[in-house]
Amino acid sequence: MKDLMPKIISLAKRRGFIFPSSEIYGGFGSCYDFGPLGVEMKNNIKKAWWEEMTRFHENVVGLDAAILMSPNVWQASGHLTAGFADELVECKKCHKRFRFDEIVNSKFKIQNSECPECGGEITQPRKFNLMMKTFIGPLEDEASTTYLRAETCQGIYVNFLNVLNSSRLKIPFGIAQIGKAFRNEITPGNFIYRTREFEQMELQWFCQPKRANKFFDFWGKERIKWYLSLGIKKSNLRVKEVPKGDLPHYAKRAVDIEYKFPFGWREIEGIHNRSDWDLSNHSKHSGKDLRYGEGQEEKYFPYIIETSAGADRSFLAFLIDAYCEIKGGRSKTTKAVKEEEVVLRLDKKLAPIKVAVLPLVKNKPELVKKAKEVYGLLKPHFVCQYDELGSIGRRYRRGDEIAIILAVTVDFQTLKDNTVTLRDRDTMQQIRIEISELHNIIQKILEGEKFLKFGKLIK
Ligand code: GAP
Repeated sequence: MKDLMPKIISLAKRRGFIFPSSEIYGGFGSCYDFGPLGVEMKNNIKKAWWEEMTRFHENVVGLDAAILMSPNVWQASGHLTAGFADELVECKKCHKRFRFDEIVNSKFKIQNSECPECGGEITQPRKFNLMMKTFIGPLEDEASTTYLRAETCQGIYVNFLNVLNSSRLKIPFGIAQIGKAFRNEITPGNFIYRTREFEQMELQWFCQPKRANKFFDFWGKERIKWYLSLGIKKSNLRVKEVPKGDLPHYAKRAVDIEYKFPFGWREIEGIHNRSDWDLSNHSKHSGKDLRYGEGQEEKYFPYIIETSAGADRSFLAFLIDAYCEIKGGRSKTTKAVKEEEVVLRLDKKLAPIKVAVLPLVKNKPELVKKAKEVYGLLKPHFVCQYDELGSIGRRYRRGDEIAIILAVTVDFQTLKDNTVTLRDRDTMQQIRIEISELHNIIQKILEGEKFLKFGKLIK
């Protein structure tokens, strides 16, 4: 779709999904805040991932480790050395900075030593470590330096023994974690696609080395299924093998799950075979034996298969994939051409608001009173919105634009027989049902049952 990114960014801001951080001060370097709808949707994504990992797979437990860890962790993991650095070049004229690999891959060739922005001469590449430094305590010296975590999984590796000893798990097993990570990216951009603060949803699967390839394939397939189950179109997803030369420093093999963004195919999740890199290095640096062995078995370092998804990147992919524009037909009554309608066809699990409650008109106190009663009835059970402003058609459209799944309309018939209309976002179909059945029916529809099963279509 043409100009899709500006439309998504504008919708996100206007309707309260995503705001630029510190906006009243002019924004702050590619940081974003999730607004009232954004936080609901992001929580829904994280909940869907958490349930998938810890409830629908066996032998997976959760963890929530601290963001701040001993700097020794990052020494051992290789993040403080060359392994976790991008090559940075700078234009001598306009002083813009670029990632060397981005320039090489772009149509602007480094041989020309030209800045892609102004054509100025470019410096030789130099290594730039992506770890975000901070200080613990009142002194800002070498001894008090630590780092904000650049990947959440290190908190899992340093707790490998704790989890093993406290949970009686046996290999193969997994530890799942969701949390913030930070990277001093040289070129953040594309809205929330690449930011300096982001959230990861990571599973670390510990297994015997000889079974690692099998689990690598298994988890890769499971992760694709997850995106599809939440409505991402198959044609917008692909898996790309990471060439040997581009592998992260810890990985023996990696594939990227990519989404077709308006700005091109880009990674939303990495599946990595990290071999025994992490456990053996943490063993060496900490002096603790992190090997595993049952009974008489010879001890070994388990291999780790990792699935590492970005909560923000998948948020953006879900938002883009759900965005639809419906050309306005003619109004039946006035014959005027209707405005183009935007419908966000987010999956039922991900939609931030599930139900809108609407009095047909707002200037009839008895309708408003009844609608507020219905709202009060549903609010403890579903994320609901009460809306009485504007024509009913306009309110339906406002709801469609932010993915509200169902709209309950209280009209004059409601006052007579305690029934309401229930409207479905995707088909725009309406049925009439008793208020006493609303809760139960909405619950079932949200769980996936067919809308028309619960009432006759209103013509
Ligand atoms: N523990 C492995 C790891 O961190 P990664 O490929 O560097 O692997 C995994 O990152 C995922 O984290 C990416 O696929 C992406 O979804 C998310 N991610 C990484 N850097 C990001 C950034 N700067 N902004 C937003 N998301 C990011």
